[in-house]
Amino acid sequence: MVTKLGYGAMELRHIDQNQAERLLKGVLEAGINFIDTSPDYGPSEDWIGKFISGQRDEYYLATKCGCNVPYPVGENTARHIWTGAQVRHNIEHSLQRLRTDHIDVWQVHSAEAAELASSDVLETMLRIKEEGKVGHIAVSISGRAQVLAPSSYGRVRSHYQETADHVYGQLQPYLDGNWEVLEALQIWYSALNRGSEQAMMEAERKGMGLIIRGVVRCLNPWTDLEDFACQIGLNDLRGEKETMAQFLLRFALTHPALDTAIIGTKSLAHLKQNIQAVETGPLAKESWIEAKERLDQAGIKSLS
Ligand SMILES: NC(=O)c1ccc[n+]([C@@H]2O[C@H](COP(=O)([O-])OP(=O)(O)OC[C@H]3O[C@@H](n4cnc5c(N)ncnc54)[C@H](OP(=O)(O)O)[C@@H]3O)[C@@H](O)[C@H]2O)c1
Repeated sequence: MVTKLGYGAMELRHIDQNQAERLLKGVLEAGINFIDTSPDYGPSEDWIGKFISGQRDEYYLATKCGCNVPYPVGENTARHIWTGAQVRHNIEHSLQRLRTDHIDVWQVHSAEAAELASSDVLETMLRIKEEGKVGHIAVSISGRAQVLAPSSYGRVRSHYQETADHVYGQLQPYLDGNWEVLEALQIWYSALNRGSEQAMMEAERKGMGLIIRGVVRCLNPWTDLEDFACQIGLNDLRGEKETMAQFLLRFALTHPALDTAIIGTKSLAHLKQNIQAVETGPLAKESWIEAKERLDQAGIKSLS
């Protein structure tokens, strides 16, 4: 079973090897057993392979495919390519970089349902699963995370609304159509981005695992996010000495359909705070209801 707190290894691309080693070892020492990466995240796969593949039985490993890496120069510079040949290339490359013989959760990286349906990606992924190289097939839904450098409440708010609309719009076709092959979805969900809150329940009913990201995204370097959360009225719902990031993490963990929340961090101190928040546990029922009511009033609600 995966731990409620997972580690998002995208942030490794912003740090040096020594810090990456400390973080990855710190993640395992803390008992976190789910790590999410992608061929797209710079040296992330290499460093997971280099520093913790010796402890491979201590973690579930999720990576992605469709990624056009090593990045080409010249002709096809698309970030993702939705063909069976590409994902076949991806799996061999990822296994080598991650120094392992299997991936536990293999996710299509941000493909739209229509693109995937008209490709041979899923049938190729199934064959690769049959070969024993992959445990579960999943899709990571695009979040179209834009760096708007918001300078005001209004801009942060419009960013979240736009993202919530986008994520929900991307997710819905995966719930409507015939996608039995998919065993899990990765979705952006947080107190500030609740678009898919109800849809997550539907995904769970369909038997899909849910990997949640975006939980504390933009707290840093968007330092006014704390301010944003306060303006929405979440401030006094925090526990004593609880940071807003910790509150947002506990809010997400309260969602009954969540399997794991992957949080990226470059900081051992933040990692420790995230672990503390998980140890404190989900929000009390009354706080969860109250927080959702306040968010509803602020117009931040589930779209389904
Ligand atoms: N399309 C996709 O498939 C896709 C897209 C994006 C991300 N992902 C995956 O999802 C993971 C999570 O991504 P994300 O978008 O949720 O966010 P993220 O990019 O991992 O960033 C999280 C941010 O929150 C900060 N943070 C973490 N813990 C904190 C704390 N306790 N207090 C204050 N700030 C804190 C981090 O700053 P510090 O480093 O300073 O702690 C970082 O800036 C990624 O690592 C990646 O694995 C997938």
